[in-house]
Amino acid sequence: MIIYFSGTGNCLSIARQLSEKTGQSIMSIYEAAQTDLTQEEIVGLVYPSYYFNPPAVVSELVPHLSISPNAYTFIVVPCGAQTGNSIWNISRILKSKGISLDYCHKVRVPDCSAIGFGRNPNDQQWKFAKYASRVETIASDINARRRRHHYGSWGPAGWICALPAVKRKTLPLLQPEVNTDKCIGCETCVRVCPQKNIVMTDPPAHTPTATPHTTAQIGNRCVQCLSCVHFCPQQAIEINGKPTNKQHQYHHPLIRLKDMLRD
Ligand SMILES: Cc1cc2nc3c(=O)[nH]c(=O)nc-3n(C[C@H](O)[C@H](O)[C@H](O)COP(=O)(O)O)c2cc1C
Ligand code: SF4
Ligand code: SF4
Repeated sequence: MIIYFSGTGNCLSIARQLSEKTGQSIMSIYEAAQTDLTQEEIVGLVYPSYYFNPPAVVSELVPHLSISPNAYTFIVVPCGAQTGNSIWNISRILKSKGISLDYCHKVRVPDCSAIGFGRNPNDQQWKFAKYASRVETIASDINARRRRHHYGSWGPAGWICALPAVKRKTLPLLQPEVNTDKCIGCETCVRVCPQKNIVMTDPPAHTPTATPHTTAQIGNRCVQCLSCVHFCPQQAIEINGKPTNKQHQYHHPLIRLKDMLRD
């Protein structure tokens, strides 16, 4: 079983590619946390690196996974550059459940967070040319049940980013906010949000819209996957007050909107 968490499709796409090459099924981490996995002989996790750490939701849900101590376990982290403690932290959680991680690796992919810094993740297309061979290697290692650990580097950056004082400064840099003037109430963001954290609500009184319609409102369970930002057809979800434009929106080219819908 390959378990994934994905906001802009990199992890979903790589989970699918590994699934095809290893014959394993795939499942989102939300579903996996409610599923009996004890009969699975292979259990892999594919999730991004956020601020050189695992996404908070992955750290929260991994303790709920029912994995047999005899299963071959692996972690693959598709990230923009460096994993930091993204793999190490989850391997410690697995260890506390009596599960030793057999294999781990990172894959460099276009960085979906680049949008927050005014850069275009599509500029990083060269990464696609490189990552295919990395995915081949990982699949062949899994099929051979090899034990190898490539935790990646920049561990100290992971510790630093996890400090509460640093988090207070860095989290706002990638915080999505709805620009209600641009929102047309299509509900795409509601349907892609893996955290079910967006609701439709009456527009604020000041909204200068001729057509009265509900607008999206982001709640307090955001894990900053940026799915809503990249998939909004109106570029109405902005980051840290910076307008989003179409050229800056990114999702993995093999993944479509329908693949990301929770329903
Ligand atoms: C909030 C946030 C923080 C990120 N931090 C890092 C990071 O510390 N290191 C890194 O290499 N990539 C970082 N990235 C890039 C993602 O790890 C990368 O784009 C990943 O492939 C996204 O996976 P997805 O498309 O399945 O959501 C970050 C992305 C987001 C949204
Ligand atoms: S996807 Fe964009 S336009 Fe559609 S409801 Fe959400 S914010 Fe509004
Ligand atoms: S509200 Fe947060 S968790 Fe939901 S899609 Fe947007 S960035 Fe992801």
